[in-house]
Amino acid sequence: MSIKTVSKNQQFLEQQNQRESNARSYPRRFPLAMHKAEGMIVTDADGREFYDCLAGAGTLALGHNHPVVIDAIERMLHEKRPLHTLDITSEIKEEFVNEIFSSLPEEFAKRAKIQFCGPTGGDAIEAAIKLVKTATGNRSILSFHGAYHGATHGTMSLSGNLSPKERVQGLMPDVHFLPYPYEYRCPFGIGGKDSHRISSSYIERVLNDPESGILPPAGMIFEAVQGEGGSIPASIEWMKEMRRITKEKGIPLIIDEVQSGIGRTGKMFAFEHAGIVPDVVVLSKAIGGSLPLSVVIYDKDLDQWNPGAHIGTFRGNQATLKFIKETNLLDHVEELGERMQASLKDIQKQVPALGDVRGRGLMIGVEVVNPNEKQDVDGSYPANPELASLIQKNCFDKGLIVETGGRFGSVIRFLPPLIMTEEQLEKVIAIFKEAVYDAVN
Ligand SMILES: Cc1ncc(COP(=O)(O)O)c(C=O)c1O
Repeated sequence: MSIKTVSKNQQFLEQQNQRESNARSYPRRFPLAMHKAEGMIVTDADGREFYDCLAGAGTLALGHNHPVVIDAIERMLHEKRPLHTLDITSEIKEEFVNEIFSSLPEEFAKRAKIQFCGPTGGDAIEAAIKLVKTATGNRSILSFHGAYHGATHGTMSLSGNLSPKERVQGLMPDVHFLPYPYEYRCPFGIGGKDSHRISSSYIERVLNDPESGILPPAGMIFEAVQGEGGSIPASIEWMKEMRRITKEKGIPLIIDEVQSGIGRTGKMFAFEHAGIVPDVVVLSKAIGGSLPLSVVIYDKDLDQWNPGAHIGTFRGNQATLKFIKETNLLDHVEELGERMQASLKDIQKQVPALGDVRGRGLMIGVEVVNPNEKQDVDGSYPANPELASLIQKNCFDKGLIVETGGRFGSVIRFLPPLIMTEEQLEKVIAIFKEAVYDAVN
């Protein structure tokens, strides 16, 4: 008589499938039940290990269960500090604000006010939009093609991806989408570095045009490196131009650092690469040090909303930024990011289906294309989402978790913990290479 053993993974996955919402997304691409996690390594319910280059979609800057985070949580519990305080302050909260303000560029920090929001990035974006609408009295918001700002009604309205919007009626009106610079798949069909220059001159013209159809904006919002849009970095010049144009026109500039903030790109905040000072910065994901937290930090001139303008019950947890500063982690991110991009470009040289490798710091994307089809006017090949999914699946089968995203879901995205070691990087690259070769051969 044969005894059929049911894998624990399978059992949990089947239960999940029966009980959880059809709206769930990640579990469909990563069929595992997580059991344990440490640093970059996740162990599933059957004891299989994975290198985690998703890391909570960029949330786990220090990887899973970093001792600094565990110590802080244990201390809080041991000392019976309040776990729930609404907006009421505490010693730990004040320390946290000190830590955040001292991590921001001085010019911004000295004029900054902070609003603690509900625990998701989307909630903080909602707050930022209400903030600038209240302060300016205007209602139009300028957003960008390929943007992702969340999945609430308001933030979905600001996001580029059409498929989740298609069946939701009555999204927030007065959102105007502008072309984000994208060297590989240029919105103007030009490509390369010119993409940034043309985008900024187009935007300036639109905002100067009395017949553009856009009422005076309440704000402009962008990601300094688009995350879900496909790991697309805006150039330094483009960001400087956006700052110049918005300043000249009195349009508050909101930078969404939910994914790129807290060291991900090799600087504490991705806008710092351009040396600009925004009016509003939105933070979530890594700022919570593994726990849910989001904040909006903004210029005090915008602080014109009334008490209760953005309230909620869960206001998030305290985090630890000290570790990143004390351990020179940003240099490590910059160095590893460069090495990772160089190794991926080496693979790209042998595999024409890898159309583009790009990113900033440890926010890296590989765009998967079909090189057998006709090139576009800007030299790009059509997206190949099927091949991207196959590479992702091969990676998973070989023990590597990587995300797909970007246009048509054809960009493989790497968001590893910032504490990834050189050996782990080599392992990730080796698995990825094998996965790509298996998929194209
Ligand atoms: C740039 C950016 N903004 C906002 C959000 C929304 O954050 P949340 O999923 O916590 O609502 C995300 C999530 O991926 C993001 O990447």
